[in-house]
Amino acid sequence: MASTQCLCKPTRGLTSPRLLLGPRLRRAISTTRCSLAQASREPGSHASPRKPLTREQRDLLSSALRVNQAGELAATLIYKAQTPLVVRQHPHLRPLMAHMYDQEAGHLATFNDLIHKHRVRPTALYPLWSVLATGLGWSTAMMGREAAMACTEAVETEIGDHYNNQIREMLAMIAQWEAEGYQVSAEIGELVKTLRRIRDEELEHLDHAVEHDAKKAEPHWLLTGVIRAGCRGAIWVSERV
Ligand SMILES: [Fe+2]
Ligand SMILES: [Fe+2]
Repeated sequence: MASTQCLCKPTRGLTSPRLLLGPRLRRAISTTRCSLAQASREPGSHASPRKPLTREQRDLLSSALRVNQAGELAATLIYKAQTPLVVRQHPHLRPLMAHMYDQEAGHLATFNDLIHKHRVRPTALYPLWSVLATGLGWSTAMMGREAAMACTEAVETEIGDHYNNQIREMLAMIAQWEAEGYQVSAEIGELVKTLRRIRDEELEHLDHAVEHDAKKAEPHWLLTGVIRAGCRGAIWVSERV
């Protein structure tokens, strides 16, 4: 469970994780204007006491950080499982696989830090996602290079959409605050930059997969369809459990 004090902090800080969230959270949070945002509106005044988050808000904030961390954990495990099998058959792909894994490890470290900073518990299904992600990586790599790349294509398509949605929500929130005369902290700008960078790296992985014959996987439509549906299901569950 997230610490109320800790999650409230980001208004400097609160604004950061809460802006990761979708319309459901935005509606919930809009009912409780953050005290720091109010203080920022009147720089010369003493800040009023911060209003504690409601339980619903804390839960929703936790779910956003939890799902991002879970997704990046899965990505690292998929590449970790795929790499030995793919590289054994196609040694020239070693640098590419290492590059994509290293970037995923960086993404996971970023969300591990945020989870720790805001005292959000990881998904309770961490062990299950670990097994499923490793199994997905291993099984697609066993099917061949094209299937492994199709897996990357499918996963990165869903994750890219996921981050794009978060960025859109965040920019809409910032625009709304600015229109209302509130000052937006530099920390929020940094978070948007971080999400954009990660989103771009995910889409770069998608391009690499297509360049390396993901579309030649047989049957491509079935493989990518099942994996994409699985990703959407995992995102839905990880936001809640
Ligand atoms: Fe990632
Ligand atoms: Fe990725």
